[in-house]
Amino acid sequence: MLPKRSFAAAVAIVVLLVSMVYGGTIAIGPVNQAFAQTAGSVPGNTLGNSSDAEIWRAIRQGQQGNVSIQDRKAGILIQSEGDNWRAWRNGPLSLYGAWAMLGVIALLALFFLVRGRIRIDAGPSGRLIERFNNPERFAHWLLATSFIILALTGLNLMYGRYVILPIVGPEFFSALTQLGKYAHNYVGFAFMLALVMILVLWIRHNIPNRHDVVWLAKAGGMFKKGVHPPAKKFNAGQKILFWLILLGGASISVSGIALMFPFEFEMFAGTFAVLNVFGFGLPTELTPMQEMQYSQLWHALMGLFLIAVVIGHIYIGTIGMEGAFDAMGSGKVDSNWAKEHHSLWAAEAKPSESGGDD
Ligand code: HEM
Repeated sequence: MLPKRSFAAAVAIVVLLVSMVYGGTIAIGPVNQAFAQTAGSVPGNTLGNSSDAEIWRAIRQGQQGNVSIQDRKAGILIQSEGDNWRAWRNGPLSLYGAWAMLGVIALLALFFLVRGRIRIDAGPSGRLIERFNNPERFAHWLLATSFIILALTGLNLMYGRYVILPIVGPEFFSALTQLGKYAHNYVGFAFMLALVMILVLWIRHNIPNRHDVVWLAKAGGMFKKGVHPPAKKFNAGQKILFWLILLGGASISVSGIALMFPFEFEMFAGTFAVLNVFGFGLPTELTPMQEMQYSQLWHALMGLFLIAVVIGHIYIGTIGMEGAFDAMGSGKVDSNWAKEHHSLWAAEAKPSESGGDD
C-alpha cells in the first residue's frame, strides 16, 4: 500500500502530464514549432541557448497567433494600442473635456454678468399662447431627465475617482459606481426613445429657412436689448441645438450599444475607410479590441461635447431668459414673449390652444 503522501504526488504528476499533453497551446507566426514542448525546453526556449527573439518580437508587436479555444482574439497576447487608448482616455480626453465644461460655465457666467437676464422688452401681457402640447413636453422631459442621469453617471466613470472617491471612500464609491453603471446602461434606452420622439415631433420645424440666415447674422439679438430677428416655431440657434442633439445623440447611442455588447459590432474600420476618401489616412485594419477602444473614446468625446452644449441650453431655458421655462413647464408662454422671440410663429398661433404649428 502506497503511503498517502506518495499517492498525492503521483496524482499531481499524472495531472501535470495530462494537462501538458491536452492543454491549450499558442503559436505565433513563423516559429510555431518552438512552442511545442520538448524535453528540457519550454516555450521561448528560456532554458536553451537561443533567445527566440522572433517569437517575443511578434508577441510584443501584437501579432495574432492561433489559440485552441473559441475566443480568437485571445491569440493576441500583448496589445500595445491598449496603452495608447488608456493614455488618451486618462490624458487629453479627460483634461480637455473638463476644461470644455468649465469653460462653458465660465462663459455663461460672464455673459450673465454683462447681459443679465434677457427680459421680455414689452413686459408680460398676461395673455397666454400654447407653445408645446403634452406629447412634446413628455418627449422633452424624458430626453432631459435621461440625459442628465446619463451625464452624471458617465461623468462619475470618468472623473469620479478623482472627485468623489477621496470624499466618500472606496466602499461607498464602488457601490455608487456600480449602481451608476446599471442606471447608465438601462437609462440609455429611455434616451434613445426620447430621441426618436423629438425626431418625429419636431423635425419639420427644424428644416433651415431664409429667416435663419438673418437670425444668425444678428446673433439672435442675444447681445443687444431690443433686437428681435423674426423666427418661426424654432429659431436658428434652436435648430442647431436640435440637430446637434439628434445626430450627436444617435452617434453616442450607437457607440454605447457597441460598448454594451462587446465585440459584436465593428463600425470604425468601415467608417474610417469612408473618411479616407477625404484624405484622412485613418487605419482600416482594426482588431476587435481596437474597435472597442475607438468606441469608448468616441462615446466619451461625444458625451463631453453634448454635456457642454446642453449646459448652455439649460442656462437659456432657466435663468438666462425671462418667460422661456414656461414653454416646457406649463406649455404656455406669454404672447409678448412669443412676439419677441418667435414673431412669425406667434402671428399664426391661436391663443392658448394651438400646438404652435410652424
Ligand atoms: C433642466 C434641464 C432643461 C431645461 C430647463 C430645458 C428647457 C427647455 C425649454 C424652456 C425649451 C423650450 C424653448 C422654447 O420654447 O423655445 C427647451 C427645448 C428643447 N430642449 Fe430643453 N431643457 C433642459 C434639458 C434638455 C436636455 C438635457 C436636452 C437634450 C439632451 C434638451 C433638448 C431640448 C431640445 C432639442 C429643445 C428644442 C429646441 C430648443 O428649444 O432649443 N433639453 N428646453
